[in-house]
Amino acid sequence: MKGDIGVIGLAVMGQNLILNMNDHGYKVVAHNRTAEKVDEFLQGPAKGTNIVGAYSLQELVDKLESPRKIMLMVRAGDVVDSFIDKLVPLLDKGDIIIDGGNTNFPDTNRRVAALKEKGIHFIGSGVSGGEEGARFGPSIMPGGSPEAWPFVKPIFQAISAKTENDEPCCDWVGNDGAGHFVKMVHNGIEYGDMQLITEAYQFMKDGLGMTHDEMQSVFIEWNKTELNSYLVEITSDILGYKDTDGEPLVEKILDTAGQKGTGKWTGINALDMGIPLTLITESVFARCLSSLKDQRVEAEELFGKKESIVEGDKQVWIEALRQALLASKIISYAQGFMLMREASNENGWDLNYGNVALMWRGGCIIRSAFLSNIRDAYDIDPELSFLGSDSYFKGILENSMSAWRKVAAKSMDVGIPMPSMTSALTFLDGYTTARLPANLLQAQRDYFGAHTYERVDKPKGEFFHTNWTGKGGDVSSTTYNS
Ligand code: 6PG
Repeated sequence: MKGDIGVIGLAVMGQNLILNMNDHGYKVVAHNRTAEKVDEFLQGPAKGTNIVGAYSLQELVDKLESPRKIMLMVRAGDVVDSFIDKLVPLLDKGDIIIDGGNTNFPDTNRRVAALKEKGIHFIGSGVSGGEEGARFGPSIMPGGSPEAWPFVKPIFQAISAKTENDEPCCDWVGNDGAGHFVKMVHNGIEYGDMQLITEAYQFMKDGLGMTHDEMQSVFIEWNKTELNSYLVEITSDILGYKDTDGEPLVEKILDTAGQKGTGKWTGINALDMGIPLTLITESVFARCLSSLKDQRVEAEELFGKKESIVEGDKQVWIEALRQALLASKIISYAQGFMLMREASNENGWDLNYGNVALMWRGGCIIRSAFLSNIRDAYDIDPELSFLGSDSYFKGILENSMSAWRKVAAKSMDVGIPMPSMTSALTFLDGYTTARLPANLLQAQRDYFGAHTYERVDKPKGEFFHTNWTGKGGDVSSTTYNS
């Protein structure tokens, strides 16, 4: 009997996905560039299963049922192209290559188009959930050649996480790089969620002077509210984890954040598409700032150590912080969905936002109860332009407003940096202001560069130039927007 699917790349994610597929009754052919890895896998975790090994790409191809489905679980970038180049001459028309790495979506766009010319189908799929997700049920976000989906669907939906109603956290996202785009936004939102949690932690630790056990209890309690999520849950575990000397391990970890690029790509795309994705972008910058450790140490010395004590009833502040976190999180997701909406329109992807929320409901790093509410919001209005306008989320934003402002103002007052929570509030203030001061900005542009402006008392699209000083000319520059 031939194999149902081949997987290339036996690092932890690849191995765990293979074991997961095997658990669901699929016969998997496993290949790795270094042959020893195949042997180690077959004699180790794969021992006693139906998994078979392949020591060359030809052997892999020969052992697969047609149309062949070959999933690459290798490092994103050139390695993917190099495997594609080696596989294509061995494949037949209609065979399918799947890239399950964290690939930047323009690369997927390019690969889908290039392989189409050769009659090969290509799927670029986001896979989220880390090691454990891959083994027991990840969130899977596939996009690319739609013709390939019916062949891959049964396997992917079987191995994916399921919601409490047993719905698979995996569905077809859209053409080209849509799957990898949605995974990129997932990761951007992951950056935002993590940053928001760290801001609450710093407020509690430095502002309220709370112990790690106290903070752990707060996160345990928060996890029973609308904030219920994987990231809040692991944060409570982390805060309770003691090093060998009995002290909290988290305080022994160097405060410089790493990043592999997906958050940065999300920010770059937002700038390219003109979407005010402020919270996620602030989260990326917060990681950049954290990495300037030596400069920060010097600057603290230079400017003097700041006292950031927050006075007042601790319980009242903790509840205010919870509300500020929840409201900011709504803004982060609202901005993320705005970005997806713009990308969908620009690329003709026809994204189904309710389905995206469903795919993120389980298995992935940002999984949370909250995503069910997002799905409901898009069920009510599939074209919702701002998540905060949905009645459920609008209610939370309104109810949290006073606590949110209090936390933001206090953080500014005592000098605790909370870039994500404060920028989320500023965004909402801007978004709900019918008249912003951009009229003055337009006047400045016209003053120094004759860039022209539109008038409130004339139809949109009619442009005017004023000779502001009487010295400049009446000739305006071309009007265009990048
Ligand atoms: C996931 C994660 C994963 C990502 C890590 C690290 O969905 O399972 O998003 O894909 O690689 O979270 O990302 P950074 O190194 O950029 O923090």
